[in-house]
Amino acid sequence: MSQHDTPLFTGLLEHIQKNPIQFHIPGHKKGAGMEPKFREFIGHNALAMDLINIGPLDDLHSPKGIIKEAQKLAAEAFGADHTFFSVQGTSGAIMTMVLSVCGPGDKIIVPRNVHKSVMSAIIFSGASPVFIHPEVDKNLGISHGITTESVEKALQQYPDAKGLLVINPTYFGISADLKQIVNIAHSYNVPVLVDEAHGVHIHFHDKLPLSAMQAGADMAATSVHKLGGSMTQSSILNVREGLVSPDRVQSILSMLTTTSTSYLLLASLDAARKQLATKGYELLEQTIQLANQTRYEINKIDHLYCVGEEILGTNATYDYDPTKLIISVKELGITGYDAELWLREHYNIEVELSDLYNLLCLITPGDTEYETSLLIKALRALSKEFSHQANKQAEVSVLLPDIPVLALTPRDAFYAETELVPFEQSVGRIIAEFVMVYPPGIPIFIPGEIITKENLHYIRKNLDAGLPVQGTEDPTLSYIRVIKEHKPIK
Ligand SMILES: Cc1ncc(COP(=O)(O)O)c(C=O)c1O
Repeated sequence: MSQHDTPLFTGLLEHIQKNPIQFHIPGHKKGAGMEPKFREFIGHNALAMDLINIGPLDDLHSPKGIIKEAQKLAAEAFGADHTFFSVQGTSGAIMTMVLSVCGPGDKIIVPRNVHKSVMSAIIFSGASPVFIHPEVDKNLGISHGITTESVEKALQQYPDAKGLLVINPTYFGISADLKQIVNIAHSYNVPVLVDEAHGVHIHFHDKLPLSAMQAGADMAATSVHKLGGSMTQSSILNVREGLVSPDRVQSILSMLTTTSTSYLLLASLDAARKQLATKGYELLEQTIQLANQTRYEINKIDHLYCVGEEILGTNATYDYDPTKLIISVKELGITGYDAELWLREHYNIEVELSDLYNLLCLITPGDTEYETSLLIKALRALSKEFSHQANKQAEVSVLLPDIPVLALTPRDAFYAETELVPFEQSVGRIIAEFVMVYPPGIPIFIPGEIITKENLHYIRKNLDAGLPVQGTEDPTLSYIRVIKEHKPIK
């Protein structure tokens, strides 16, 4: 078996070719029982591949055949001892990593700017998070990764932690010195769990940051669907043997996974692995060049700044992924969200995300100069449109509030007796729900934290800018759920 083979995808094609008479789910039976307009749009091939774990097609919950072979090839391609396919996105793989190392009362060291799936797993497990402050970039108004110094400090204080979770690279493509972080954690026998949602491709080109497996990490949850060419929701969990047990990982992943696993997603993982392993370097070389060329052109536009390698050199900015275009629009006197709406309305362009100050655009092997030249053209027009109000001062201050204090474990807060109080009157109370802007899905508040005026102001600013603030029971955020206080009876 070589990296040019696709045992799972090919096995499915061979099965489909036999055209078996199906008396099993899915009940649409190759689309025949489906609403015609939908069937026509999706097409025969996709519907014929929408199969289930019948004998010849193996079973993700206990792989012994074509899925096992496909996972083995993926492990070889990613430099892992074991690779597990996930049809629950990277969220499912992240929850598996956390639940594999933590139980009730255990400590896990995590950066505060983690994805909500990490906090969900902390609530499920009953573990206590030890938060590390990520390094904050005051110029861009974004958080980077954690520093080697803060990891050393956290481990000195909590050498009994059951795991250290690192986001590498961040959503914006910035990475820390992961190899050094792994060395420090391993000197305490603490396994390193990497949220590699935004870094499936970095393993396949030497001009990109080191991947989790290259850096010696113990586990990595990697979104093949985000930047690796597989279908949305398909991810992998890479495991290195030693500090974690692959058998436990398999059983926890299985506990969190649907029994009706999509073969479209699984086959797309197999095909994406083949492409990354056999053509990844060449495709990424072209992508990096295209992104660098685009960055250069954007930086020639008045009042816009596209981040490049000058960002490197701090303790948390050890390396970066040039295929991510972080475009700061703050000098134009508009928010990133305003820019997103403007580009949608005037140029039919959809960006990856926007925040108060920036746009994020991704360049992948799916792009050509046609798309990037349209982006450059649109950004030139955006700059022209708003240049009359541009703030030419070099420094436009950004707002990024302090991280709130944790008063209760997230699980205790989540299950405590709670009440709804008006948003503006919640200062000083302990929050019982998540508040986050999605994307990127990083919590502004997690259950158990003390609400501060400064953080409410930050939420209000995001709401006023039109950004998608989510997570609360009341979508309008007029009310917020807090831990009930029992006042003495007068
Ligand atoms: C940093 C980070 N981790 C994890 C995830 C979860 O990935 P998925 O959407 O595949 O569940 C995301 C998704 O945006 C993310 O940004």
